[in-house]
Amino acid sequence: MRSVTVNASTPYEVVIGAGLSGKIGEYLARLGRKGKVMIVTDSHVAPLYAEGVADELVYRGFEPSIYTFDAGEESKTLKTYGEILAFLAEEEFSRTDTVLALGGGVTGDMAGFAAATYMRGVAFVNMPTTLLAAIDSSVGGKTAVDLPQGKNLVGAFYQPSLVLFDTDFMKTLPYDEIRNGLGEGVKYAVLEGGAIFDILSEGLTSENLEDFIYLCVDAKRRIVEADEKEGGKRKLLNLGHTVAHAVETLTEFVVPHGVAVAYGVRVMARLASQRGELPEEEFYKIEELLLSNDLGLELNPIEELIPHFVADKKRAGDRLTLVTIAGIGDCRLTEIPVAEAGAYFMVE
Ligand SMILES: NC(=O)c1ccc[n+]([C@@H]2O[C@H](COP(=O)([O-])OP(=O)(O)OC[C@H]3O[C@@H](n4cnc5c(N)ncnc54)[C@H](O)[C@@H]3O)[C@@H](O)[C@H]2O)c1
Ligand SMILES: [Zn+2]
Repeated sequence: MRSVTVNASTPYEVVIGAGLSGKIGEYLARLGRKGKVMIVTDSHVAPLYAEGVADELVYRGFEPSIYTFDAGEESKTLKTYGEILAFLAEEEFSRTDTVLALGGGVTGDMAGFAAATYMRGVAFVNMPTTLLAAIDSSVGGKTAVDLPQGKNLVGAFYQPSLVLFDTDFMKTLPYDEIRNGLGEGVKYAVLEGGAIFDILSEGLTSENLEDFIYLCVDAKRRIVEADEKEGGKRKLLNLGHTVAHAVETLTEFVVPHGVAVAYGVRVMARLASQRGELPEEEFYKIEELLLSNDLGLELNPIEELIPHFVADKKRAGDRLTLVTIAGIGDCRLTEIPVAEAGAYFMVE
């Protein structure tokens, strides 16, 4: 078992290990929680894990109830969010009760936002069940739902009281979802280098999974501790994301987020190499990493992507902040005028 303490505005612990879901009640009791716990989960995860978590909570004296929504990003809406709030009100949840997310990033983002806003905030506990949620979305306190006009347009920064990842959850995760998580994993590998890069180069296995998640969470911890509300350094976590968002828009989200991020990292590595900013040998290491993780894709060409950068939400005024790669473990924030994006990306 590994654990990371995130010293955000409200500190919390992230625990990672096999069989941990059998201890959720113990962890909650240790935090001084008692009373009602609403388990928010989706229709794929509920039949696998919700009863087990609920039983464990009953055993520890909690009163759990389960709210299940249809799995998928299509459910990350104001409507589902409203239903969660209505359920909390009907079950007479008070400020001393707890909302527990059991699922991937969709569940965590939406349950977290409900917890942030119901009665101006009730305790939130996150049990991520996907690789992507374990290494990325469950840490850092971003919660949100989508609007028809765009993804994650309504939300709040709200820190969980605890994040608990049972590595056994990975046993039921479909290959495509593992690959999707690996896309964000590649982002950490290039941002951090070192052991994260080495593990992904060797390939993720049941033996190195716990270490890998620990290292990614710890990397995210360092970045969000330095910049909780994304004023500066936290933008590094957007490596590959300007391209990824353009690919997602162009393909109407057929390309999953993590896979689009991996392509974004590839485009940024290629660009840095062409601009003479990234040593050739490091560029080939990144290419090799992508290929060996089944992420060596060729998606939309750069000419198609550039017009979409202009609309990227990370843009401040007429400037675009890009995360550029000067080396493995050495990424930087580079601001360019939006008007020059074409010239910047179209190097020969
Ligand atoms: N808050 C943040 O900082 C942050 C960061 C990155 C992504 N996100 C958000 O995360 C979401 C994507 O997360 P995701 O990829 O986890 O998607 P997801 O929650 O939809 O999960 C993916 C699929 O896997 C299934 N699943 C989950 N756990 C399973 C398990 N253990 N076994 C079998 N099936 C399982 C789900 O039912 C779903 O069908 C997006 O909405 C994105 O905006 C948020
Ligand atoms: Zn991402």
